[in-house]
Amino acid sequence: MTTTRFETEVRLPALSRRSYTITIQPGLLRKLPEHLHERVRAGRVFIVTDSNVRRLYGRHLHHILLLHDIQSVLIDFPAGEASKNAGVAGLIYTALLEAGVRRDSMIVALGGGVVGDLAGFVAATVLRGIPFVQIPTTLLAQVDSSVGGKVGIDHPPGKNLVGAFHQPLGVYIDPAVLATLPGPEFRNGLAEIVKIAVALDLPFFKILEQKLGTLDRKDVMALSTIVARAVGLKSAVVGADEREAGLRKSLNLGHTIGHALEAGSEYSLSHGSAVSIGMAVEAEFSVRLGLSKPADARRIISVLTSCRLPVRVPRGINARTFYAAMAADKKSAAGEPRFVLPAGVGRCAIGVRVPSALIAEVTGIRL
Ligand SMILES: NC(=O)c1ccc[n+]([C@@H]2O[C@H](COP(=O)([O-])OP(=O)(O)OC[C@H]3O[C@@H](n4cnc5c(N)ncnc54)[C@H](O)[C@@H]3O)[C@@H](O)[C@H]2O)c1
Ligand SMILES: [Zn+2]
Repeated sequence: MTTTRFETEVRLPALSRRSYTITIQPGLLRKLPEHLHERVRAGRVFIVTDSNVRRLYGRHLHHILLLHDIQSVLIDFPAGEASKNAGVAGLIYTALLEAGVRRDSMIVALGGGVVGDLAGFVAATVLRGIPFVQIPTTLLAQVDSSVGGKVGIDHPPGKNLVGAFHQPLGVYIDPAVLATLPGPEFRNGLAEIVKIAVALDLPFFKILEQKLGTLDRKDVMALSTIVARAVGLKSAVVGADEREAGLRKSLNLGHTIGHALEAGSEYSLSHGSAVSIGMAVEAEFSVRLGLSKPADARRIISVLTSCRLPVRVPRGINARTFYAAMAADKKSAAGEPRFVLPAGVGRCAIGVRVPSALIAEVTGIRL
């Protein structure tokens, strides 16, 4: 196995002691004891994972830690977004407290974005906050949800409404685990990678134009390079704007329409598909508002299509839910959605108003 390793420092200037390193290396999972030894010292380790990842990697990680004299407790919950709630968080609190969690214990969040958000939220709140590390195992979690310190759970009125900012001690990314990821989950991550490039980095976008169409999930070198670039960009943005006062909003590109489509489809559209369609739609807004040229929008759509991501609004979106979701968007101002639109490729404009007639015309969704 190759020893190529990428490291990205997430610097949080407001509180520099909370800065941490993101390590990206094929085969890193097997080397975790080396990295964790330093951090664990006297305290115990609690691996929190979901039912799928427990079977694929959790039991193995538990075993490797034991071989290196690191005692750990493995806690799992049923895989899926439906587990990201206060009820399951409560079950994890109970498991941790019954197993003797202390303030010097550490939570290892091993899994996709659901595990990272839920285990991170538990880490932020149990005993008023204990340290945690992220070991993201989906492409989406590797390039997006594990970087930035946003943790949280869903609540009946909506997704991610209860949460905290809780930065991990470190993030350990092993691109080799993506070999077992189902295709649709892989594509969810690709959509976020394209988003990062479109919003922030034209040279990266050009690499994606060449590579994404033929990217193999088992090509750990190509994956490592792409993941490292995406993570580097996201961590620079988070470092400059942890609380999303300005620059971090750029990562919402494709998401205003994307979230509304997810809601309007009653969540039958995956997040990645919805964001992909959202980017295509928002690229068209940008052309119509004179922020981009038609050729820019075509390039964005072509990269998304090369990943086999959808770019057209499907039939059957509930218009009422779609528009209500947009008005309720956390990023809206006085009930009016504000968009992040591509400005060409590799740059974006934040806080743009889009006339409702244009939204209806481009999406074909009418009340
Ligand atoms: N905190 C943030 O900043 C942030 C950002 C984006 C998304 N999110 C959240 O992330 C969540 C979505 O994350 P996700 O897409 O990773 O979903 P997920 O965690 O549900 O994982 C998707 C599926 O893949 C399985 N899986 C995970 N790793 C695997 C592997 N290596 N091989 C095979 N199967 C594997 C999981 O068991 C699950 O069934 C949402 O809840 C979203 O709100 C958070
Ligand atoms: Zn997203």
